[in-house]
This record gives sequence, C-alpha cells and structure tokens, in this order.
Amino acid sequence: MQRVFSGIQPSGIPTLGNYLGAIRNWVPMLDQYECIYCVVDQHAITVWQDPKELARQTREMAAALIACGVDPDRCVLFVQSHVHAHTRLAWIFNCVARLGWLNRMTQFKDKAGKDRENAGSGLYVYPNLMAADIHAYHATAVPVGEDQKQHLELANDIAEKFNHDYGVDFFPHIDPIIQGVAARVMSLRDGTKKMSKSDPSDQSRINLTDDADAISLKIRRAKTDPEPLPGELAGLDGRPEARNLVGILAAITGVTPADVLKDHAGQGFGTFKGVLADALVAHLGPIQSEMKRLLADPAAVDALLRKGSDRAAAIADPIVTKAEELVGFLPRR
Ligand code: TRP
Repeated sequence: MQRVFSGIQPSGIPTLGNYLGAIRNWVPMLDQYECIYCVVDQHAITVWQDPKELARQTREMAAALIACGVDPDRCVLFVQSHVHAHTRLAWIFNCVARLGWLNRMTQFKDKAGKDRENAGSGLYVYPNLMAADIHAYHATAVPVGEDQKQHLELANDIAEKFNHDYGVDFFPHIDPIIQGVAARVMSLRDGTKKMSKSDPSDQSRINLTDDADAISLKIRRAKTDPEPLPGELAGLDGRPEARNLVGILAAITGVTPADVLKDHAGQGFGTFKGVLADALVAHLGPIQSEMKRLLADPAAVDALLRKGSDRAAAIADPIVTKAEELVGFLPRR
C-alpha cells in the first residue's frame, strides 16, 4: 500500500474552505493508503504565534480533523514537534538544498512581503522542513493544495540531490495529489478572493464552529447579484459570487455544480440561500457536536496525539537514523 503524508497548520478554527478544500479529502484516503497526518506546529512558528494560542489551536485542529472523520485508529495522527525525526532530517536537508532553489519559492516571497530582511530564517527554510516531513516516512504521495506544488517539486529535487551526493537510492520520488480543485471556496464578500482565516471580516467565511444562526446570517448576507440562477454553467461566467454559492452547495451535497443548476434554475438568491444555509447546518452540525465533545476533554485529545506520535516515531526514527548514517554521522549506539 502506498504511504501518504500530509500536514496542516494549526492556524485556528478551520473554515469551510479548509474543510472542503483539504480536510474532507483526507478521509476517503484512509481506505486506499497508509495515511500519516500531521498538525505542523513547527511550520506555524515561522511567523509569530502567541504561545498559549498555538497550543490551543494545535489541539483544536487535531480535534477538528478527528471530528471531520480523520479517524486516529485508521491513520497516524500526531503533532510535528513531538517527533524529532522531522527536525533532524530538516537539518540535513538545509545542507542539501541550494540557496538558488529556495530563492525561487513564491510562497516565501508572498509571506515575507516587502520587508524581506526582517523575515525569520525559518520562513526561508520552511520548504526544507516540509520535505523532511514527507521523506522521514518514505511517503510517496502527498495531498496538497495547488499552492504547495512548488514545495513538493523542491522536495523531489532535494531527494534526488541527496541520493546523488551520497551515491544511494534512499529517498523515493513523491507525487502530489492535488486536492480541492473542484471545491475552491471563495470569500462570501468577494467571489474573486479565497475564503480565508486572515480576512478581517468574519462575515467573509464560515467557520467550522459557527452555529446554525451564524451560518444562516452569513449566507443570507453573502454578496450576490440580482439575476436569478442560470440553468447552465456558462450562465455563471462573470458571476463569481453566484458560482461560489453554487459550488458550495454542490460540494456539501455531493453533486456537480451543473446538477445544482438543474435543480435551482430560475431561482432567486432569496430562496437559494435558504436551501444552502439549511444544507450547511445539516452537514456541519454533527461535525460541530463531535468537536465539542472532544474538546470537552483536552487530556483525552492529547493522549490520542501522544499515541499518534509514538507510532509516527516508530516509522520515522529508523529512516532518519539511516539517513544520518549515510551522511557519516557516528552511530549513536
Ligand atoms: N506547507 C503546508 C501548507 O501550508 C503544510 C505542510 C507542512 C505540509 N508539511 C507538509 C503539507 C508535508 C504536505 C506535506 O499547507
């Protein structure tokens, strides 16, 4: 069975965008792959995090994943900083990856912004840590969003250079599984912008923990246009907000956007938004109650994560120890 690795940053309560674009895709993979899923707190601190918030958000993200169906009995679910193999391998990769390669990373340029001199050096070598996350498990398939594809190409370059420099065939090639292409969820206030936790307006997103009233209100207030819904996809051209709401209903109910239009052609947004809000409330309700149940006992969540990190370490430690041996580090025992 192919081994899958993926990571998600503990950046607060997931939005509907995180859920439909990433988390939800992790669940069916449990049937097809050996899955290793990680909450990447070490990646998170590449930009400043309030310590108490980081700890809380790490646990919350783990609880959200479990509540969404990422069953810790059917995969390895753990927190990055608990398994030291990641940073041991990341150091080796810091020495393998070329500055020229890192200089090409568009995410660094975006995140560092104009004040690049003042960016943390961790932000710069972030892709090396991400490569280590994956290669520490000899994982060969990685579900990621489109924005992470460049980092995966770098991870392959690093593996190839390591194999070449040390004359081995040790790290395998990894293939991206690009997720969320069909369900790219946009802001409720601006259909051309991605739904995001960092948007200053909470009205722009549905949070996984929003209650029924909040969901209904946000959908009711969502930006739309005055035209009724078209009968065919082409009728959504130039109507990003309409396209977004149709896409959300399709993703939530498991049909295609074309099917949604077939059912709702000619409908005004007043009616359609009611249908959408009801569907969202029905879909997210069970996830929310499960999340609440889990977070009512934080120690139990932490215990699940500890079990996960023991299992993760059992896989990664021997692989990284072998890599250290290949590099020429004196064996520890
Ligand atoms: N960089 C990824 C993101 O921001 C998160 C991540 C860290 C990751 N390590 C990973 C994803 C390893 C896939 C595999 O979305």
